[in-house]
Amino acid sequence: MKHFCPVALFCAAFALPSFAQEIKIGYALAEDSHYGAGARAFEESLKASLGDQFTFRHFPSSGLGGEREVLEGLQLGTVEMTIASDGTLTNFVPEVGVLGIPFLLRDKAHARTVLDGEIGKEMLAKFDDAGLKALAWGEQGFRHITSNRDPVEAPADLAGLKIRTMENPVHIAAFRALGAAPTPMAWPEVIGALQQGAIDAQENPLSVIVSAKLAEVQKYLTLDGHVYSSTIVLVSPALWGSLDDAQKAAFEKAAADAVVAMRAYVDDADTNGVEALKAAGMQVNELTPEQKAVFREALAEPYKDYEAQFGKALMDRILAVE
Ligand code: PAF
Repeated sequence: MKHFCPVALFCAAFALPSFAQEIKIGYALAEDSHYGAGARAFEESLKASLGDQFTFRHFPSSGLGGEREVLEGLQLGTVEMTIASDGTLTNFVPEVGVLGIPFLLRDKAHARTVLDGEIGKEMLAKFDDAGLKALAWGEQGFRHITSNRDPVEAPADLAGLKIRTMENPVHIAAFRALGAAPTPMAWPEVIGALQQGAIDAQENPLSVIVSAKLAEVQKYLTLDGHVYSSTIVLVSPALWGSLDDAQKAAFEKAAADAVVAMRAYVDDADTNGVEALKAAGMQVNELTPEQKAVFREALAEPYKDYEAQFGKALMDRILAVE
């Protein structure tokens, strides 16, 4: 007959593993995209810091809905984490729209310095009042135009072009000023709309054009780099509020590691993406600096509105970052 041992029972109870908390992470692109790379790096970093305290369930390819719905899920506490583009985030913190002004950020080095510095930190902090916790700025790269109509070399080539844009008023105003017919649309609808001919064109960075296999639905790629596209790594305030200080520090480190992974993916897509897209059948042209200047000049009117909306002082502050 076994003897009852209260001390052993007590010890066994405390040796039981505590339940890991599940983090549902939703993002718009496939697992083998810069979003997938960032999400994996985040998970690995958190596991290295905190062991099995958290488990991850990934919902790539808009598996939890479009970026707007996922962000609303974070606000409600039904989704714990996402990586989302600045285009959508502009609808939650309008000041972020300044980064979507065409030709404002000069190159990736400039963009990264702005986002990693004071201006970037100030903007991340604004998400607290929008019911979201923004951890770090990730990256997509400079956006380019893809089309089924013609290669784009001058604003005249955009005349009446039904081009899908993000739901970003700054981008919509720019394409309208260039003579196009901008059609804002959530990402999950874009491939179908291109297939059905409801739109002729779209614009995204090489990281997206490659990972979303846009060569299957678009003939022409114009490398115009009209605007830098950032992303943010965000968690729900409900999750953030439940963390202790050591866990918060581990989440911040994981977000920084996710950014490194995303930037590496974007650098690789910028180096090797064009050849891959040509091999997949796309016809590619790259705007010369003189051709780009013509686009920049055609945006004089929206630039006045951008200055009125975001303040010339902020735009000058961004331009002054070396
Ligand atoms: O074009 C967009 O909506 C975004 O760049 C995308 C593809 C959803 C990635 O955030």
